[in-house]
Amino acid sequence: MTLRRVEEAISIEDFRKMARARLPRAVFDFVDGGAADELTLKGNRAAFDRLSIVPRILTDVSAPDISSTFMGQEFPTPLVISPMGSCSLVRPDADLAIARAAATRGIPYTLSTMSSTSIETMARSVSGVLWFQLYVLKDRAFNEKLLQRAQENGYSALVLTLDLQAGGKREKDLRNGVSVPLRPSPGLAWSAIRKPGWLFRMMVHGSPQFENVRGYLGNTSAGLTIAARVGANLDAGFAWEDFDRMREMWRGKLIVKGVNHPDDAKELIRRGADGLWISNHGGRQLDGAIASIEALSNIRKAVPPQTPMLLDSGIRRGTDLMKLRAYGASLGAVGRAALYAAAMGPEGPARALDILLDELRLGLKLSGAPSFRNINDGLFGQPVR
Ligand SMILES: Cc1cc2nc3c(=O)[nH]c(=O)nc-3n(C[C@H](O)[C@H](O)[C@H](O)COP(=O)(O)O)c2cc1C
Repeated sequence: MTLRRVEEAISIEDFRKMARARLPRAVFDFVDGGAADELTLKGNRAAFDRLSIVPRILTDVSAPDISSTFMGQEFPTPLVISPMGSCSLVRPDADLAIARAAATRGIPYTLSTMSSTSIETMARSVSGVLWFQLYVLKDRAFNEKLLQRAQENGYSALVLTLDLQAGGKREKDLRNGVSVPLRPSPGLAWSAIRKPGWLFRMMVHGSPQFENVRGYLGNTSAGLTIAARVGANLDAGFAWEDFDRMREMWRGKLIVKGVNHPDDAKELIRRGADGLWISNHGGRQLDGAIASIEALSNIRKAVPPQTPMLLDSGIRRGTDLMKLRAYGASLGAVGRAALYAAAMGPEGPARALDILLDELRLGLKLSGAPSFRNINDGLFGQPVR
């Protein structure tokens, strides 16, 4: 069955199918794909799927509470939007559409260094909680300028992504030759002609750019995939002493994204990180990396009990949020789930987020769990430590 309208989507997988039908192959693959053999991409889902909930009965679940607390702040839902670069490849202003849908639901939006909307425009356009994600560029003065712009524009937390020491080997992107700005090629032209809606919008709005780093990455995208171009500009030498300097420089809350090893988690907390973002970049960086929910399970045993943790990579169902809560994280972040939906226009992300939140409320009810925040190991029927 072909799904045509946003209202017809009843799951995130429906939005994925809609995106596949509407986007040129190169763009869909850029969003959907993972690194190398996509083992980690698949592993993220498999690990969530392996966890079985043991539901309770005879509890009052007439009004399930989905609020959560993270770094001392109350949030009405346990969702966050993961930072994503190049969103406007999917549809012009896709990142604005996602951010607006998030804001009206009290969901923090994380703006990527490589976003298609600038730090300033996003801050002007959206009234909700904004976090800024930094890729550490080789040019330290430029990093400082980015942080200053984020601070001046009211971004309340810095998300420091540290798992992109180089661009991941995303083989679909290498084959398709996808780049920002878009570089015309026979392959792209052929698949774009068959997606006239996408093609028309690109022709009217022009190719997306990396708005925050315009001019910095060099003017040509020739021969480089997005991951390779970004990776070539990042500081692979960034180490613990540099982290300490960054910690001193940023006055607000600091969350480190891309944490997988318990020793790193412990050390980050010791050196002043406010939160840990357990992530393998949605399987887009190191193929063979541990599934995010398994990494969380290891990390929770190594850090103090109340350590603020959130997780992304593979969340496609509201019940996934219950599973990460059972392992001690307070929030779950979604990337592709929102971006697939953005291919359908501004109403897409709003519906995708509501689908996840409705699934969460239903999951809580059917598990006999009155509140998200009180979920613990008992969700699985036995201690999981
Ligand atoms: C199209 C796309 C672009 C991304 N760009 C960034 C980025 O600029 N910075 C970053 O830290 N992570 C980036 N990521 C990774 C996401 O923040 C997040 O870790 C991942 O998408 C989570 O997995 P999920 O898509 O399965 O939810 C990107 C992911 C996608 C799909």
